[in-house]
Amino acid sequence: MENLFQVAIDGPAAAGKSTVAKIAAKKLGFVYIDTGAMYRSLTYKALREKVNLNNGQALKELLDRTDIKLVQEVDGQKVYVDGDDVTDRIRYPDVSEHVSLVSSYKAVRTEMVSRQRKLAQSCSVVMDGRDIGTHVLPNAQVKLFLIASVEERAIRRYREELQKGRHPSMEMLKESIALRDKKDMERDASPLVKAADAVALDTTSLSIEEVVEKILHFVKEKQPS
Ligand code: CDP
Ligand code: CDP
Repeated sequence: MENLFQVAIDGPAAAGKSTVAKIAAKKLGFVYIDTGAMYRSLTYKALREKVNLNNGQALKELLDRTDIKLVQEVDGQKVYVDGDDVTDRIRYPDVSEHVSLVSSYKAVRTEMVSRQRKLAQSCSVVMDGRDIGTHVLPNAQVKLFLIASVEERAIRRYREELQKGRHPSMEMLKESIALRDKKDMERDASPLVKAADAVALDTTSLSIEEVVEKILHFVKEKQPS
């Protein structure tokens, strides 16, 4: 237990957190935990069950009867809600549009944070999200706050959409990223903010490999030889 290692990666939307967190975790032999997928899963189920998204208590009660599993499979990490594979579905625009509202309620966050801490109790982890360094894993040995210009982040999402055969408007992508960041930064319950002891890394002109290298370097520095 004492030798467990925690890497916390926070930052705004599409800064590259999950991509680099996944690769770094694999290289380190740690477990990757995508906390955004957990909030997205609850949002998806709330939309499906037509729960009032303005009612934090109703969302907390929904969460209490929702099983969310992050499973490492050969072809990548899969997300299951009550046994159903929702890996792709939770990235659809309707979920992205409402997830910041669902994530804004203290009761929802308290339960999510408790689940996230449990996941990090028995293994070394790379966990990414918005409040990992500030709140979920305040004692993480390595904390990173990834940023990138909103233009670059919109381009990154645009490329992803193109690969899926969709052609979204760049302006709309930029707007939705900026709006989600604003909501995440302005909420009362553990808003998106850099932890005082986190290293800020601007990835605007860095490749995925360069960011991963930096993470591995920080981990090496902190790991007892
Ligand atoms: O990957 P992307 O940047 O689109 O977002 P995500 O990591 O999937 O997170 C989706 C949303 O969940 C964020 O915009 C936040 O509203 C919320 N979230 C949060 O509040 N706290 C976390 N630890 C992770 C995500
Ligand atoms: O998790 P988050 O929303 O912060 O971002 P992501 O989903 O990991 O990354 C968004 C996109 O940016 C992905 O398609 C990555 O391949 C790409 N990316 C990049 O082009 N350069 C980087 N340094 C990091 C990510």
